[in-house]
Amino acid sequence: MSSFGAKLAQLTQSLTAADIFCGHGYESIHDEAVALLLCAAELAPEQTTDLLEHPFPDGASTRLSQMLRLRMEQRLPLAYVLGEAWLAGIRFRCDSRALVPRSPIAGVLLEACRPWWCAEGPPHTVVDLCCGGGSLGIIAAHIFPAATVLLTDIDEQALALASENIDLTRTVDRIACCRADLLSALATDSVDLIVANPPYVSAAEMTQLPPEYAHEPRGALEAEEAGTALAVAMLRDAARVLSRDGLLVFEVGESAEALERRLPRVPFTWVDLPQGGSGVAVASAQELQDWIAAGIL
Ligand SMILES: C[S@@+](CC[C@H](N)C(=O)[O-])C[C@H]1O[C@@H](n2cnc3c(N)ncnc32)[C@H](O)[C@@H]1O
Repeated sequence: MSSFGAKLAQLTQSLTAADIFCGHGYESIHDEAVALLLCAAELAPEQTTDLLEHPFPDGASTRLSQMLRLRMEQRLPLAYVLGEAWLAGIRFRCDSRALVPRSPIAGVLLEACRPWWCAEGPPHTVVDLCCGGGSLGIIAAHIFPAATVLLTDIDEQALALASENIDLTRTVDRIACCRADLLSALATDSVDLIVANPPYVSAAEMTQLPPEYAHEPRGALEAEEAGTALAVAMLRDAARVLSRDGLLVFEVGESAEALERRLPRVPFTWVDLPQGGSGVAVASAQELQDWIAAGIL
């Protein structure tokens, strides 16, 4: 019987040889190998290095082989293989109904959106726009425990998963779900904080993505007009929906340059993301209104 340590070395080698892509919530092949071993052995994520000396249980080997087939042959993202994803220390149910949670907006929320959130108290109303499985809105509900949170998405399947995650994270008393096309269902001047990770991958980029992305809903990734169509529509309508001191935090990832090319006179504020990731910006309600009034948005 081999030890966890020996299994880990073997698994790392196999995953490396299979040339898997790690970009769906795991930083490295080593991290994926650890998660696979712990899941196969039905152990919690918090373990000490002592475990490396322990024997890898026989019964776990069959489970591990099944998971490896999904990961290496079908190139299913690990979070879909495991059926769960972790973001900001919270565990979410995760399957192909929605994107694997990984938005760097989570890091901005962990800082309570400071220094960008400058109103006196915390936000009362938060909307997770394009919520997918609901991770960002649920994190917001933990960071702002007095806030009411609305999760919105156009996709019923994603909303079904979001609803399961609300139950799982026991936030049901303060979070609701609503199917809507962007911000169309929201009243004027009704939201203090919007967090949004809309689809932003251009048609050209879609053809270049590693095979793992093909398992995610296409409608969660692709956007027209070089990836900027939904982001621009959202920026224009956010000015209407946000309250006076309101703030929009949004992600456009690799499409940041395309957005700047499309709106060349808008002075975007890009957030420095010490925990990794790129293409997250913030805009206050006042800025959005000013840009619209100046005809540059
Ligand atoms: C990039 S995923 C983000 C999911 C989640 N917020 C996250 O960070 O993991 C984008 C989401 O936007 C949704 N979506 C696409 N078009 C939309 C629209 N016009 N209005 C609302 N949601 C839309 C998709 O269904 C998908 O769930």
